[in-house]
Amino acid sequence: MEKLEKVKKEILSCIEGSDSIDELRVIKKDYLGKKGKISELFKLVAKAPEEERSELGKKVNEIRDILEERVKKKENALKILEEEGKGSSFDPTLPGEVPVLGNRHPLSRVSGDLIRIFEKMGFSAIEGPDMESVWYNFDALNFPEEHPAREMQDTLFVKQSSFSGSEKHNISSKERKVMRTHTSPVQIRHMEENEPPLRIIVPGRVYRNETTDATHEINFYQLEGLMVDEGISVANFKAIITDFINQFFKGDVGVRLRPSFFPFTEPSFEVDMSCTVCSGKGCSVCSNTGWVEVLGAGMVHPNVMKNSGLDSEKWQGFAFGMGVDRLAMIKYGIDDVRLFYGGDLRFLKQFY
Ligand code: PHE
Repeated sequence: MEKLEKVKKEILSCIEGSDSIDELRVIKKDYLGKKGKISELFKLVAKAPEEERSELGKKVNEIRDILEERVKKKENALKILEEEGKGSSFDPTLPGEVPVLGNRHPLSRVSGDLIRIFEKMGFSAIEGPDMESVWYNFDALNFPEEHPAREMQDTLFVKQSSFSGSEKHNISSKERKVMRTHTSPVQIRHMEENEPPLRIIVPGRVYRNETTDATHEINFYQLEGLMVDEGISVANFKAIITDFINQFFKGDVGVRLRPSFFPFTEPSFEVDMSCTVCSGKGCSVCSNTGWVEVLGAGMVHPNVMKNSGLDSEKWQGFAFGMGVDRLAMIKYGIDDVRLFYGGDLRFLKQFY
């Protein structure tokens, strides 16, 4: 009898302690089910000495009735609680844990924008190697032997240990490696491999041996463009670049060409756009001129065509090269290029 009382208390506290309907179901099965504890007790009663049997049987019946009653009550109570959303330990009103989300680097975003605009105009984006030969980076692009851009202060030459002492002076320009100083070598690579008409853009990283400051980095990004076909003129270039600038800066932006010089284009230009910060009135961004220089360009030089194996009598083309970092700085009003490479999340998190 004492043992029965104990078992009853144990089961009751289990029922009271359960805090979900699922848990209660398990308890019900364990104690009141066909193979549960109460059934076991009935079996024990059957084995008890005859004189105790009826009293014990009565007691177990009583306990079972009480427990069944309690389970029913508890089940109803839990149902009400769960309906009110308070049944389990899950509280949907608590603020959740917000996972830390990454975001794209501003330069990746701007590159993506540039590529999309040119792709809509029929240009295909291609890539070239970051480590280039002196041939592709300079010679084939018509740089004269003594051109200042080749000098150590601008170009990062690659240490080539496979060439020993005296050999070093005789390395051919096709073997001599530099970190490309611009994306223009990909013009040559593409013209060598493909027949015009050609329409490509080349986004990529370039390297310069420079002291860094607010407007100079030892590496930055360029986007090269090249279009070659029959009868291409400066007018085609101006139309495409004006369309591009107006799409990128989302406005009615003025564009002008100024004469300039690059060994690989003739004639060559700098392209200016009217200052989007002061609408041409004059401010610090445009040094009070109302114009901002955005890219270098020109008509592909006949020597460059020749070096790539194209007939310069038959084909004409234009090429341009723009600084992705510079465009991003103008568009977002960023005054220090080093911010792009500093890894400061307070800066980078502002672009998403
Ligand atoms: N490669 C030149 C630079 O890095 C830009 C350019 C590209 C100019 C194509 C003309 C044509 O400054």
